Amino acid sequence: MRRYLIAANWKMHGSLEMVHKFAESFDQGVDLGAEVVVFPPVVYLGALQGLTSKYVQVGVQDVGVASAGAHTGEIAASMVKDVGGSWVIVGHSERRADQLEGDDLVAQKFAAVIAAGLSPIVCVGETLAQRKAGDAFAVVSKQLKAIIDLCGVSALAKGAIAYEPLWAIGTGLTATPEQAGQMHASIRDLVAGLDQDVASSVRIIYGGSVNPENAGLLFAQEEVDGALVGGASLQAPSFAAIVAAT
Ligand code: PGA
Repeated sequence: MRRYLIAANWKMHGSLEMVHKFAESFDQGVDLGAEVVVFPPVVYLGALQGLTSKYVQVGVQDVGVASAGAHTGEIAASMVKDVGGSWVIVGHSERRADQLEGDDLVAQKFAAVIAAGLSPIVCVGETLAQRKAGDAFAVVSKQLKAIIDLCGVSALAKGAIAYEPLWAIGTGLTATPEQAGQMHASIRDLVAGLDQDVASSVRIIYGGSVNPENAGLLFAQEEVDGALVGGASLQAPSFAAIVAAT
C-alpha cells in the first residue's frame, strides 16, 4: 500500500511573514494521513522547519551535482540533509526551460540526492505540442530512462516521480483524472518491465493546477499517489484541503 505524498512547491514565492502564517495555520502537530513535504525557496527552509512539527517535512526545489567545492551559488544535497531537509525536487520543467537543464544533468542531480541519503522527486512531462503529436509517453519515458540508465531502476523507489504535463502547470488547465491515470499507469508499466517490486512501491504523483476542487477526483485514480502542488500550496487552507482530499 503506497502512502499518499503531497508536496508543496512554492517556487520563487514567499517571505518570512508568509512562512509564519503558513506554519501557524497549516500545521496542527497531528498526523495528516499523508506524507507532506513543503519546498519553500531554500533561504526559508530553516525558518519553516523551525515552525513545523515532524509531520511536515521540508525540502529544496533544486540542488547542485557536486558534493562541495568551487561552485558559486550551488547547494549540495549533503548540506540540505545537514540542515534537516529530506526531499529535493529535480528536473522541474521550469528549470528544464529556464536553466536549460537536460535529461543527463537531471539524472546526475537525482544521483547526487540519493548519494546524500535524501529522497528526490523527479519531474517529467510533455508539452501540449508533444501531446497533440501523440508523443507524450515517448517524452516522459525518455526523461525517466535517463535516470534509470544512470542510477538503476531500484533508485526510483528511494524517491517519487511527479508527472507534470507542461500545459497544465500554472495554467488552470488540469489533466483530466483519466489522462493523469493513463500516464501514471504507463509510467508504472515501464518500471514494472524492469522491476516489479519497484513498480509497486514507487509513488507517482501528479502536478499541474491541482486545487481543492479537482484533487479528490485525481486521487481517486488508482495510479495517482499524491500531488505536487504549486499555486494552491501558497495558502495553508487550500493546501490543507488538498491534503484532506487524500
Ligand atoms: P501549479 O504548479 O500547481 O501552480 O500548476 C505545479 C508545479 O509546477 O509543480
